[in-house]
Amino acid sequence: MAEIGTDIEKAAALLAQGELVAIPTETVYGLAGNALNIDAVAKIFAVKNRPAFDPLIVHVPALQATKKFVQEIPKKAERLAQLFWPGPLTIVLPKKDEIIPALVTAGLPSVGFRCPDHALTRTLLNKLAFPLAAPSANPFGYVSPTSPQHVNDQLGDKISYILDGGVCTIGIESTIIGFVAENPIIYRLGGLSLERIEAVIGNVEVMTHSSSNPVSPGQLKSHYAPGKKLILGNLIDLLQKYPAHSSGILSFEKDYNSPYQRILSPGGSAEEAAKNLFHYLRDFEAMPVDIILAELLPEVGLGRAINDRLKRASAVDI
Ligand code: TXA
Ligand code: MG
Repeated sequence: MAEIGTDIEKAAALLAQGELVAIPTETVYGLAGNALNIDAVAKIFAVKNRPAFDPLIVHVPALQATKKFVQEIPKKAERLAQLFWPGPLTIVLPKKDEIIPALVTAGLPSVGFRCPDHALTRTLLNKLAFPLAAPSANPFGYVSPTSPQHVNDQLGDKISYILDGGVCTIGIESTIIGFVAENPIIYRLGGLSLERIEAVIGNVEVMTHSSSNPVSPGQLKSHYAPGKKLILGNLIDLLQKYPAHSSGILSFEKDYNSPYQRILSPGGSAEEAAKNLFHYLRDFEAMPVDIILAELLPEVGLGRAINDRLKRASAVDI
């Protein structure tokens, strides 16, 4: 098992040696390595068992730090970074030559940058002379980790150190936005809502379903899978169809009086639901249930991003 601690110096030293460290962010835990060191980046793909066609996000301490790696920063991107960084937004920018290895970006001419909003990780990034490539710290295709323990459960035998920043406050991955001829496109719905982005830069195209050749592999239909089959629908109907004694229930706000249920937010808050989502999906693993019955949230705010995760989780055949 990996060591879990709050020693930033130790994390920085390991990263400088080309080792991997799990880092906390406000969205989910990341599996970090030096983005400019090919061997470190290759280790990230190996540890996650991630296909090489899936590019990594590069984490920086501020927008300024992206400048030497990109050709230009569109005005709208700059505005978004000013308002929402540090925060749960990844901005895809046109890449300049080969300073950032092609392995990081899976050969794409663009690179996704994120400035995470977590005190420990910001201190770490400010200490380092290089940015951090960091995908979510889970095996490829599985639910993202929102606590140090989640990381240790799945990757503990493959990495030596987990920087402990507590439970993630947002709980779902960052929203990913890019620009084609100045037109904004969202590639992944996430911790920053579409509404908040549109309030700043106007209409945004949402392009999160690209089946065969994904621009952003988070777009793959079967992603974010918990270990059990997840069935989406109206919970009252589903409970008539499936046996209550062997079905887990994941409801938004309603109490179904089952020993095998998780209520995402009894008060009906999508923010609270996002924070609990991945943790609760993992809880069903330890329950004596065969399937998970779940319902969608209202399709507004973070509800969109949660529904996206639930739909992808339900698309997996286990
Ligand atoms: O919240 C987050 O974004 C977390 C934390 C650790 O920062 N990271 C994360 O990374 O979710 P990952 O690797 O699990 O998901 C990154 C997604 C992938 O779906 C990838 O395809 C997409 O970002 N991506 C990376 N670079 C891209 C690019 N240049 N263009 C389009 N999509 C890109
Ligand atoms: Mg991921």
